[in-house]
Amino acid sequence: MDRKRELFGGRGAAILAMAGSAIGLGNIWRFPYMVGQTGGAAFIILYLVCCLLLSLPIFLAEAVIGHRTHAGTFGALEQLAPGTKWKWLGLLTVLSPLVILSYYSVVGGWSMDYLWRSLTAGFHADAIGTVSSEFGGFIASPWAPLLCHTLFLGGCAWIVSAGVKSGIEKFNKVTMPLLFVLIVVIMGYSLTLPGSSAGVSYMLKPDFSKITPSAVAAAMGQSFFSLSLGVGTILTYASYVHEKENILVTGLGTVGFDLLFALIAGFAIMPAVFAAGIEPGAGPGLIFETLPYIFAKMGASAPWLSSLVAVLFFVTIVFAAFTSAISMFEVGVAYLVEQKGLSRRRATLLIFACTWALGALCSLSFGPLSGVKLFGLSIFSFCDMLTSNFLMTFGGLLFVLFVGWKMDRKAVRDEFTCGGTARFNCAVFDAFWLLLRYIAPPAIVIIFITNFLA
Ligand code: TRP
Repeated sequence: MDRKRELFGGRGAAILAMAGSAIGLGNIWRFPYMVGQTGGAAFIILYLVCCLLLSLPIFLAEAVIGHRTHAGTFGALEQLAPGTKWKWLGLLTVLSPLVILSYYSVVGGWSMDYLWRSLTAGFHADAIGTVSSEFGGFIASPWAPLLCHTLFLGGCAWIVSAGVKSGIEKFNKVTMPLLFVLIVVIMGYSLTLPGSSAGVSYMLKPDFSKITPSAVAAAMGQSFFSLSLGVGTILTYASYVHEKENILVTGLGTVGFDLLFALIAGFAIMPAVFAAGIEPGAGPGLIFETLPYIFAKMGASAPWLSSLVAVLFFVTIVFAAFTSAISMFEVGVAYLVEQKGLSRRRATLLIFACTWALGALCSLSFGPLSGVKLFGLSIFSFCDMLTSNFLMTFGGLLFVLFVGWKMDRKAVRDEFTCGGTARFNCAVFDAFWLLLRYIAPPAIVIIFITNFLA
C-alpha cells in the first residue's frame, strides 16, 4: 500500500483548508437564523462560550489525533489504540460525514440553482408568500433539485480527485480569501439600507430571558456543526498538516476565522431582514425565501444593484458550501485509499456513488418520497437530525475522552508545545487539559440529556 501522504503546503494553507471546512452553510444559513430565533446577542454570547469551552477542546482533540498519526480517522485510532473497540469510533467517523455530505449536497444544489436564477431571471415577487411557494415547488419537483445535487457533488468529486495539494489546497487558497471579501462587501451594502440599524441592535442587544436549556443545546450543536466537529473531518485535515506546524496555532486560527465569518454573515443578513420589515425568526427558509424576497423588493427601486448583490450572495453560499463539502468527501476517500488500497480516483468514484444515492433519497423526500417517514421524519430531516443531534455530539464526546483519558499526556503535551519548546503553549496546555478531561465531557453529556428530556 502506498503510504506516502500528501501534505498541505504550510501553516497558511492548513488554516485556510480547515477554515474552508468550517465556514459553510452553517455560518451563512444556520447561524443567522438561529441568532434570529434564539434571542439575538444572548445567543451570540452563548455561542462564544460554547466555542471556547466545548468546541475548542474537541477541535484540538481531533487535531492532536490526526496530526500525531498522519492517518485518516480509522487508521489513526488503529495506530493509537490497536485492536481495541476504539476502531468503532474510527468506522463511525468514516460514515457520519458521508451522511452529512449527502444532505448537505442537496442544499448545495439548491444554492446552485438560486445562483443560476440570480444570474438569469432574477427574483420578482410582491409578497413573501409567493417566494415561499416558489421555493416549496422547486424542492418538491423531482428533477431539477436532483440535477443540482448531482452537479454539486460532481464538482466536489472533481476537486477531491485532484489530490490534497493540487485539488483541495488550491481550491481553498483561491476561494477562502474571496469569500471574506464578498461577505464584507455584502455586509457593507446591507448596513447602508434604510432601516438596517434595527438589525444591528437586534444582533447586539441580548435578551437573557431567551437563554433556556434548549438554547444552550442549540448553541452547542451550532458550534459543533460550524466547526465541522465530531465526525473526523478536522482529524483528517490535521493529518495533512506538516509535523513542524503547531496544531494550537492552526486550531485557534480556524476557530477565529469561523467565528468572524459567522458574525459578519449575521451582520450582512439581519440588517437587510430588518430593512425589508421581515420577522427575524424566519427559520431555515431564511436564505431561500426571505432573502430572495428582499432582493425582489430592492429590485423595484434599484434593479441593477439588487441583481448584483443577489449574484454575489449566492456565489458566496455556493463556494462556502463547496469548501465544506470537500472536507467531508475527503474523510471517506482517505479511508478507502489508506485502508483499502484503492487509487484516489476509484475511491472518489465510490464515495460519489454512495453519497449521490443517499443524497438523491434526501432530495426526493421533499417530493415523491415525502410519504416515507423514519421516526416520523422525512429522509432529509432524519439524516440531519441523526448527524447533528446524535452522531456529532457522540463523536465529539468520544474524541475528547480518547485524548483526555486514553492517550498519553506527554504525547498530547508534545503536540501542543512542539515537544516543550513553545513556552506560551505550555501554559495553555494545562488549561486545555483541564477542559478536556473534566469540563467538556460532563458538560456535553449534561447539555445533551437536558435537551433530550426537555
Ligand atoms: N462546518 C460546515 C458548515 O458550517 C459543515 C461541515 C463540514 C460539517 N464538515 C462537517 C458539519 C463535518 C459537520 C461535520 O457549513
